[in-house]
Amino acid sequence: MYRLVCIGCGAEYAPDEVIYRCRTCGHLLAVKYDLDSLNISRAEWDRRPLKLWRYREILPVTGDPVSLQEGGTPLYHMKRLGEELGLKNLYAKHEGMNPSGSFKDRGMTVGVSMAMQLGMKQVACASTGNTSASLAAYAAKAGMPAVVLLPAGKVALGKVAQALMHGAKVIAIRDNFDRALEMVHDLCISEGIYLLNSVNPYRLEGQKTIGLEVVDQLGDVPDRIVLPVGNAGNISAVHKGLGELIELGFIDRMPMMTGIQAAGSQPVVEAIAGNLPEVIPFKEPETIATAIRIGAPVNAEKALRAIRETGGTADSVTDEEILAMQRDLARKEGIGVEPASAASVAGIKKMVEDGRIDPDERIVCVVTGHLLKDPETVIRQCEPPIEIDADIQSLLSVLR
Ligand code: F0G
Repeated sequence: MYRLVCIGCGAEYAPDEVIYRCRTCGHLLAVKYDLDSLNISRAEWDRRPLKLWRYREILPVTGDPVSLQEGGTPLYHMKRLGEELGLKNLYAKHEGMNPSGSFKDRGMTVGVSMAMQLGMKQVACASTGNTSASLAAYAAKAGMPAVVLLPAGKVALGKVAQALMHGAKVIAIRDNFDRALEMVHDLCISEGIYLLNSVNPYRLEGQKTIGLEVVDQLGDVPDRIVLPVGNAGNISAVHKGLGELIELGFIDRMPMMTGIQAAGSQPVVEAIAGNLPEVIPFKEPETIATAIRIGAPVNAEKALRAIRETGGTADSVTDEEILAMQRDLARKEGIGVEPASAASVAGIKKMVEDGRIDPDERIVCVVTGHLLKDPETVIRQCEPPIEIDADIQSLLSVLR
């Protein structure tokens, strides 16, 4: 049992209504469950496999979901990197291990299932890449046509390859993500297509399971959860999920929600630092971490609340810091991530160096997408393979 509730004025909408913003005040909506009436047992959850649908009682899908077996991603203890930073309890939740290689699959298994449940015939999104790759895959699984709008020339190669191969209609616009999102929103409203960006409250329902899994894997609530922030949906989603665990009496405190942005697109960081009531968009966001190259985060209101209510913070890292951490994660921990994902850990490194982190803190960094998403940025940082003649002498001479 659930309804859609406006986060601004509290107006309520029925769950079968296709609506993304409040008709009265224009704010976004959130899914609200009647948790008292739900029969949820933690022991029952524990008996199920560690996968997203373990938590189905607090997900909005009633029938069989459109699933590619998402969730249940590894939580790694980062021993070597942690020691270097003086942190004994530093973890990475590797969301790149989802079916299409990013956390977006959590949102899409729920979002595309809801498209089916609501009787929609077509789905669409704007994307910096991962959302489009994931939507394309889940729409393929559902047998539904998908349209994706990308900022031309600013999407990593692997993500475009996925969207194309899974059969979406891929359209590149000569502008940035923020404009693509406006356009796809208008398209969906006028054409009756189901919008699967994170303005869709059901997307975030899937993504909240990151936080639920962290608690189950750690056996406790971490002191801090750190996420890279672009459109600010994921940090809002994780906060919401943990809030529901508190309401259910399964946990008794919140981690400090911590968002990391790239220095060239950091409206959330500036809003937190300046104690502003809302974000001031960046007109021309720029960063090598194209996944989070976003100037007007649509979920900023939810994210600012999540950060402020939990005593968390937001900070930014430079492209150099992002790439250095991408290499460190790969070479010291064996964790291969795309640049945006390295931002969460790079942010913690910076905060440790500034003396803003208690070394005893238990910290979970969400690393959001796989290394193979952006092979071009990887190759540019590495020496090319050493090519030799096919004889042992040549081999030994390059190894000496
Ligand atoms: N990390 C990666 C790898 C992402 O792809 C994204 C967002 C984020 C972090 C930020 O998450 O937007 O919820 O704050 N990618 C979106 C996309 C915008 O279109 O794929 P957020």
